[in-house]
Amino acid sequence: MRKKIVAGNWKMNKTASEAAALIQGIKKEVAGIAKVDVVVCPPFTDLKDAAAACAGSNVALGAQNVHWEASGAFTGEISAAMLKDLGVTYVIVGHSERRQYFGETDETVNKRTKAALAAGLTPIVCVGETLAERDGGMMEEVVVRQTKEGLSGLGDDLAKVVIAYEPVWAIGTGRTASPAQAQEVHALIRRTLAELSNGDVANSIRIQYGGSMKPENAGELMGQPDIDGGLIGGAALKAESFAAIIKAGV
Ligand code: 13P
Repeated sequence: MRKKIVAGNWKMNKTASEAAALIQGIKKEVAGIAKVDVVVCPPFTDLKDAAAACAGSNVALGAQNVHWEASGAFTGEISAAMLKDLGVTYVIVGHSERRQYFGETDETVNKRTKAALAAGLTPIVCVGETLAERDGGMMEEVVVRQTKEGLSGLGDDLAKVVIAYEPVWAIGTGRTASPAQAQEVHALIRRTLAELSNGDVANSIRIQYGGSMKPENAGELMGQPDIDGGLIGGAALKAESFAAIIKAGV
């Protein structure tokens, strides 16, 4: 039985003091919930204060990106060791916004995933097709390629990753994939994972859904056999709505 995992991707929202306040609110709402892993992923500049706010609670801390090199002349980048040192345990890799606006490729996703794992961080690796790809009948090809290339060469560490299926057309649009549509792709991803490893590993890996998940649709989405949680954008910016989604996964 896979434990559900609900993570908030705050994107470029909240200052450090706002982050600490939001985490205090989330902690109150989710205190005592042990059946769902809860993660918040604020911007880099908030992480130190966010770590202090999360300390000793059931809210874990994630970052939104990580560079693959350990150190050096890479202006503006952040290494896995820097995140680890702050108390970060998860990191989002290959979010569609990074693919779309910042040149992220399957190759760089793979490098970041390996760097995160090597440092002992749990990568949340994002895959998902655009509307044009879905309408063009390319969904399957795109999702399988992103999964295989993003996760290639991980060996036994494959079992440690979390995957987020985020159809780009559902992100921030209010247009959620139907539970059946999402389930179909989650099952496809799990079959692809089995090709990369074996059935036992594929069955153990958690696959989150992301894209306009909110309290009203979270229960039905997470009720699907291959949907093991959510990666939440907008609805993660308020303690009440984020907590309501988490409670829908209990
Ligand atoms: P929304 O929940 O705002 O659609 O964002 C989803 C997302 O991109 C999470 O990573």
